[in-house]
Amino acid sequence: MKIAILYISKHGTTEKIAKQIADALAEYDCNVIDIKKHKHPDLEKFDYLILGSSIYAGKIQQAMDNFCHQYLAQLQPKVIGLFVCGMQPTEEQREQELMRAFPSELFERTTTKSFLGGEFLFEKMSIWERWIVRHISKVSNSVSMINDHAVQQFISKLQSHLVLASLDDNNSSLDVNKLPETEDDDLPVEVFSGVMWECGMVKSILEDAGIEAFFNNENLGNVAPWIAAPGGSGAINVVVAKHDFQTASAIVQQFIKNNEA
Ligand SMILES: Cc1cc2nc3c(=O)[nH]c(=O)nc-3n(C[C@H](O)[C@H](O)[C@H](O)COP(=O)(O)O)c2cc1C
Repeated sequence: MKIAILYISKHGTTEKIAKQIADALAEYDCNVIDIKKHKHPDLEKFDYLILGSSIYAGKIQQAMDNFCHQYLAQLQPKVIGLFVCGMQPTEEQREQELMRAFPSELFERTTTKSFLGGEFLFEKMSIWERWIVRHISKVSNSVSMINDHAVQQFISKLQSHLVLASLDDNNSSLDVNKLPETEDDDLPVEVFSGVMWECGMVKSILEDAGIEAFFNNENLGNVAPWIAAPGGSGAINVVVAKHDFQTASAIVQQFIKNNEA
């Protein structure tokens, strides 16, 4: 599966984040393309595309906006992620900027989109930019406000999406031998067992992928006795409906692999 992260960056922050995302998706032949240098990349070569731009004066960079409009038809079916970098201080303003950043034709059909924070790098700014930042943002030194948590969440959502896509592509079938023999497709089955924070992450990654997931508890143990009892180790379980098990397992395997890396 071939992926391209198409980005534009003035002082290097968006580029840094684009490369971080590419590293996390390395297993998918992930290419990082600066659209300032490569104005007409061959989009046909890629299965999936991710777009990233920094925000200046409330907008994504003009060259990214032009690029999106010029290649809208090719981008539309392939874009799986949109991200922006910026220094807006309030959540409300960040949401506004993200929502307005890319053409609505791309924004509305993409589920993974995020404002990932930014940096003021005074040493790289022009005198004019320094003046604006000092007067408008009241900041006079370089500062990094990259939202690492948002970056990780963005990557996790993309990974879930790609796992689902590769399942579709390969029509691959996972080992479902450990599933209980039951005709009832809705019965809960364990898909992951771990400590609380791991289970919390798995649950939210599954939910982002559209799979209903919940923690095992005593009541569930009564109706679904094959689910491992929590025991005294502090471990808990994440369970999904049997009909979601195959897809959920693939996502969980990806999660485990990432955490081992
Ligand atoms: C002159 C100037 C104007 C900016 N305007 C905005 C803005 O309107 N909204 C915002 O969220 N960030 C704004 N920023 C912050 C940039 O988006 C931030 O520095 C970002 O990390 C730059 O990424 P880049 O190096 O990839 O271009 C501004 C920065 C400068 C220097």
